Amino acid sequence: MSDLVRLSRSQGLLEIRLNRPDKRNAITFAMYEALTAAFAEAGRDEGVRALLLSGEGAGFCAGNDLHDFLAGPEFSPGHPVLGFLRSLAYLEKPMVAAVHGQTVGIGVTMLLHCDLVLAARTTQFTMPFVSLGLVPEAASSLLVPRLVGPQRAAELLLLGRPFDAPAALGLGLVNRVVEETVLMTEARNTALALTHQPPVALAATRRLLRGDPGVLFERMQEEARIFGAQLKTEEFRNAVSAFLARAKAKQ
Ligand code: COA
Repeated sequence: MSDLVRLSRSQGLLEIRLNRPDKRNAITFAMYEALTAAFAEAGRDEGVRALLLSGEGAGFCAGNDLHDFLAGPEFSPGHPVLGFLRSLAYLEKPMVAAVHGQTVGIGVTMLLHCDLVLAARTTQFTMPFVSLGLVPEAASSLLVPRLVGPQRAAELLLLGRPFDAPAALGLGLVNRVVEETVLMTEARNTALALTHQPPVALAATRRLLRGDPGVLFERMQEEARIFGAQLKTEEFRNAVSAFLARAKAKQ
């Protein structure tokens, strides 16, 4: 297991911490594979009753690693991103997320698959897919309109502007906003509360709430087909070059 995804376990809780703070926890293909393996292990292990997802450093997650996407393979069924998305859709254990700082792209859309989300007051959320020449992923094109209605979904996904934690609370994307100093304690307590619930009733209720994972994965694959095609376009390459040039100018 890569050290870029740190796992720890106690009291029936599997904590998964993105651990690439120098790159703002941008997720590489190797990290997607590590996350998929962690979800699979959690599913198999009866001792794991809940998961807690968080990020090390200044922010929760800066989205997909853009370098990997510039160089990466086609979005075939064996692609690490598709494996991760499938495991999110089919995740059998409840997952709490603790988010803070800047969180972008999949760092936002994966929250739609978490059961409960706690955000630090300072969190900034962005889904800049269109601005990057891409399309939404992780079934967010289905789940965001379901969560906030079509007009607000269009605003969030077509314009891709950042929004803050109180706005995320208003949209229903997060359950609670807390001070960053207590984020991990509060999130851990919330996840531990889930570990104390009767597991069979909890699992059955999650299945009822989440509906058919096959529908989600089908949308993920449809999005991935378009996303994969967009990765080859000038729109995407120009947007990424602009980000990398800005990052270089800051050094
Ligand atoms: N992929 C690859 N590297 C990334 C990255 C990403 N998605 N996001 C950040 N990084 C790297 C930067 O290139 C920089 O690397 P360097 O130190 O080698 O130059 C480092 O992480 C720190 O990034 P920086 O932009 O200086 O941090 P910041 O705190 O000022 O801003 C963000 C944080 C997340 C707002 C900003 O990094 C950002 O917008 N990242 C891109 C987000 C994105 O478009 N994700 C893809 C969505 S599909």
